[in-house]
Amino acid sequence: MSKQLYHLQQEHLSRLQRDYAALLEEHRLDCLAIYSGHANAFFGDDQAPAFQTYGHFMHWVPLADVQHSWLVIRPHQRPQLYLYAPADFWHLPTRLPEEPWVDEFDIHLCSDHVSPALDGHAAIIGDVAQLPNASLKAQLNPATLLNRLDERRIVKSDYEIACLREANRLAIAGHEAAQAAFLGASGELDIQLAYLAGSRQRESAVPYQNIIGLNDHAGVLHYQHYDISPPRRRHSLLVDAGRRFRGYCADITRTHAGPDAPALFGELVGAMHGLKDELVQGVTAGTDFIALHEQMHQRLGDILIAHDLFRGSREQAVAEGVTRAFCPHGLGHSLGLQVHDVAGLRHPDGTAAPPPNEHPALRLTRTLSSGMVVTIEPGLYFIPMLLAPLRETSLPINWALLDYCMPCGGIRIEDNIAVTDQGPDNLTP
Ligand code: GLY
Ligand code: MN
Ligand code: MN
Repeated sequence: MSKQLYHLQQEHLSRLQRDYAALLEEHRLDCLAIYSGHANAFFGDDQAPAFQTYGHFMHWVPLADVQHSWLVIRPHQRPQLYLYAPADFWHLPTRLPEEPWVDEFDIHLCSDHVSPALDGHAAIIGDVAQLPNASLKAQLNPATLLNRLDERRIVKSDYEIACLREANRLAIAGHEAAQAAFLGASGELDIQLAYLAGSRQRESAVPYQNIIGLNDHAGVLHYQHYDISPPRRRHSLLVDAGRRFRGYCADITRTHAGPDAPALFGELVGAMHGLKDELVQGVTAGTDFIALHEQMHQRLGDILIAHDLFRGSREQAVAEGVTRAFCPHGLGHSLGLQVHDVAGLRHPDGTAAPPPNEHPALRLTRTLSSGMVVTIEPGLYFIPMLLAPLRETSLPINWALLDYCMPCGGIRIEDNIAVTDQGPDNLTP
C-alpha cells in the first residue's frame, strides 16, 4: 500500500468518523452496529456461493469478503471491529493485512459468531434477517438513516476515487488480454480465462459476472455463459468485465469487430467510441443525467442515419422508439463499492427519483455533483426480440442492411468517470 493511498484512507476514515457522529446524533443514536453479512450454504449442502461484504461495512473496512463480522460506531469513539476469525484447521485462519488502517480500529478477533453488546439507543444495519438473535432493543435498518448513509456513499472521497482508478487500471490489463485472445481466435471461455489472468483475479472475486459475448451473444445484454468452443466465424466480441480494488469496482466494456464482420460494423464501433467520448464530456457538476441519457438517444439517431440504417429524421428515430429498440438500457449508473451503487434513484433529500416512463432501465436520475463516479456506457444492439415489433411498422428502417449486421450482436463501450469541479476525470485508461 503506497504512503499516499494510506494518507488518503486516513482522511477518508476521519471524515467517516465525523459524518457518522453527526448522523448518529441527529438520529439520537448512541451506537450503530453494521453487520458484514454472511453467505448461506446451498440447501441441503455444506457449500456456499461466493460472497460480497455489505457496502456500508466496506465503506470503513477495505475487505470485500469478510463474513460474520461487526463494526460498531459510537460518536467520538474509536470504531470497534469484531472480526470473525475461527480457530480452524480446515481453512487458513483470518489474518489482518499489515496495513496502517488497522490501527484506526479497536479489533476484536472472534472465534464464534458474536453479536456485540449495544448500549443506549442503538441501531443495526445490514442483512440482519438471517441473524436469529438480532437485538430486539435496537432499531433494524432504519430507513431515514440508511438513506443518509447511502447519500454519503454516492459522493466519493479522494481515497475512494484512487481505489476506483486502480481497479480500472487492473481491469484494462484484463481487457487487453481478452482482446489478444480474440485476435488469437479463442472462444468465450478462453477469453474469460485470459481476462482473469490479465487482470490478476480469480473468478469468485469479480464484482459482477463478466459478460464475454461472441457474435450474436454480444446482443444479449447480460449474457451469462462462456461457450467452450470457438465459433466457426468471428464477427464480434463484447467484453463487459470488471475488477475490485480494496472493495471498489471497475465496470468497463469494450467491443471489437472480428475478421468476419462487415466493414459497417467496424465503422459503428468507431462511431460508438466517439459517442462515448462525447457523452463523457457531459459528466460535469450540474449535469442532469436524464438529459445526458436523452442526448445519447439523439446521437444514436444520428449514427443510425449516418450509417444508412434509418432513413428518417433524428427526431422520428427518437420519438417512434427506434433508438430505444437499439439501446434498451440506461446511459450509466453510479459506481463504487457496488457495481450499481446506492442512491442513484433518489434525490439528495431521500425522496424517490424514479426513471422516466419511457426509460425504465435508467439507474441514475440525479443531477451530477463533484465526487460522484458514474459509468458512461452507450450501446447499439441488434436484438431480434426488440426489433420484431418495428418490422410490423412502415418506419424507414433499412432492414436489408440491418439483417446484414445481425450476426454481430451489438456494441457497448463503457468507461468510468469521476465528476470533479474541473470537469470529467476519466478513470478508465
Ligand atoms: N456490467 C453491468 C453494467 O454495465 O451495468
Ligand atoms: Mn458493464
Ligand atoms: Mn455499467
